[in-house]
Amino acid sequence: MPMDKRNLEICLSPLLYEPECHKESIVVIIDILRATSAICTAFAHGAQSIIPVAGIEEAREYKSQGYLVAAERDGFVLDFADFGNSPFNFTRERVKGKTIVYSTTNGTGIIKQAGSAGVIVIGSFLNISSLTGWLIEQEREVVLFCAGWKNRFNLEDTICAGAIASRLMSSSLYSTICDSTLAALDLWSIARTDLPGYIEKSAHRSRLREKGLDDCIEFCLTEDYTEIIPVIKDGVLVNNIL
Ligand code: MLT
Repeated sequence: MPMDKRNLEICLSPLLYEPECHKESIVVIIDILRATSAICTAFAHGAQSIIPVAGIEEAREYKSQGYLVAAERDGFVLDFADFGNSPFNFTRERVKGKTIVYSTTNGTGIIKQAGSAGVIVIGSFLNISSLTGWLIEQEREVVLFCAGWKNRFNLEDTICAGAIASRLMSSSLYSTICDSTLAALDLWSIARTDLPGYIEKSAHRSRLREKGLDDCIEFCLTEDYTEIIPVIKDGVLVNNIL
């Protein structure tokens, strides 16, 4: 007997997220430049756990308690933090076996915002194949939640959501009546032939270039650096749902 299709939605801005609609869903957090790429890298390099923190003062308080803290705003490392938000900061030497407190401009805020969802996992190009394979096995509704930039739509998260949606839709388990998903699928079909070239257009690409923080862009667009799917358990990101 044919199985009922599962619903797939994409949320293109934190302002559009409706927590009461997603209590049973798997929510995938996407902020590829750079928060979710950095989280995947941290776990790939052996981090034990990551405590996402939305506010600067809370992160500062953790620092005063002796925690290792990664924190940035508008790309810049906060003065009390140990390091910032480039995936290249999360080296094996620095993070192996460690708990890291983490606060960023957009990404950690939406992890907290999605707090009441059924399951919250981290998505990026770096873990796209294991993530999509796992999602298909779950047979549950999926929301791809794009961080954007300060509540605005952004290209890079939408394109990554389109890439994930394209794989889910081709599994024939999912259907969508969500125009955001259809738009993201269209954008991905345009961008996929030259992803770095397309991402050149994005506003955050320019912001990172102007600040000299763009050395990690190519890395953030790399598929399958890791198979790890970071997941929230009791408010903390841990290394793998698999
Ligand atoms: C964020 O979480 O706001 C971003 O990832 C910021 C950045 O790393 O540039």
